[in-house]
Amino acid sequence: MSPETTLAGVAVLIDAGPTYEDIDPVRFLGNRSSGKMGFAIAAAAVAAGANVTLVAGPVALATPPGVARRVDVRSALEMRAAVLAAVNGADIFIATAAVADWRVAEYSARKIKKGPSGAPVLELIENPDILAEVAAREPRPFVVGFAAETDHVAEHARAKLVRKKLDLLAANHVDERVGISADDNALELIWPGGSETLPRAPKAELARTLVARIAAHYHARAAA
Ligand code: C5P
Repeated sequence: MSPETTLAGVAVLIDAGPTYEDIDPVRFLGNRSSGKMGFAIAAAAVAAGANVTLVAGPVALATPPGVARRVDVRSALEMRAAVLAAVNGADIFIATAAVADWRVAEYSARKIKKGPSGAPVLELIENPDILAEVAAREPRPFVVGFAAETDHVAEHARAKLVRKKLDLLAANHVDERVGISADDNALELIWPGGSETLPRAPKAELARTLVARIAAHYHARAAA
C-alpha cells in the first residue's frame, strides 16, 4: 500500500443504511437503502488500516471483521446523536446513510385505527442534516458525503458539495440497475478542485477504490 492510500492510525467514522421514522408502534417511514455500500466502505477502510466506527441504521448486515465499534440506531435523531457522540475523535467522516428527510411531527403511542373518519393525514417535519451539521463544526473531520440522484447527477452533486461545505462527494445515478439497493454501483467523485468517474463495479471493489481516493485526498489536504 502506498503512503497516500494507507489509513494506518486514522480514525474513520461512517454512517450507513436507512433510518426508520416511527409513526406508531407498528408503522414507520423507511427507504430502500440496504447499507451495503457503507458496510463495504467500512471493510475497505479496515483493510487500509483505519480505526473504524460504524453507525448503522436498521440493516440486515454482519459487522465487517476488524470494525472497532458498531452503534446500531433506528431513527435520524438517534443516528445524529450517535454520530455527534463519536465525531470528536474522528479524522474522517463518511456519510453513506440514507437519512430520512422527514419524520412524523407527532408519534402516536397507540396504533392508529382504521375508522369511519377515513385515512389519517400525517404531518411531517424535517430531520436535521447530519452531514451538514458535522461539516459546519470547527474543528471538523475530513468530510465525505454521498448523493443519490436520478437526473443531472454532476450538476446536482456539485451544488450539494458547495451547499453542505464538503471535502469530497460521491454521487451515483439511481435507476433499477445501479444504485441504492443494488449490488453494483458507479460513482462520480467530486471535490472543490475537480472530479473523477469511478466506473461501475461490485460494491466491494468500488469501496476499495473509493477508500484509496479518500485517503489520497485526506493526506493531500493534511500536507497542504
Ligand atoms: O441532500 P441529500 O439527502 O441528497 O444528501 C445526501 C448526503 O447527506 C448523504 O451523505 C447523507 O448521508 C447526508 N444526509 C444527512 N442527513 C440528512 C440527509 C442527508 O447526513 N438528514
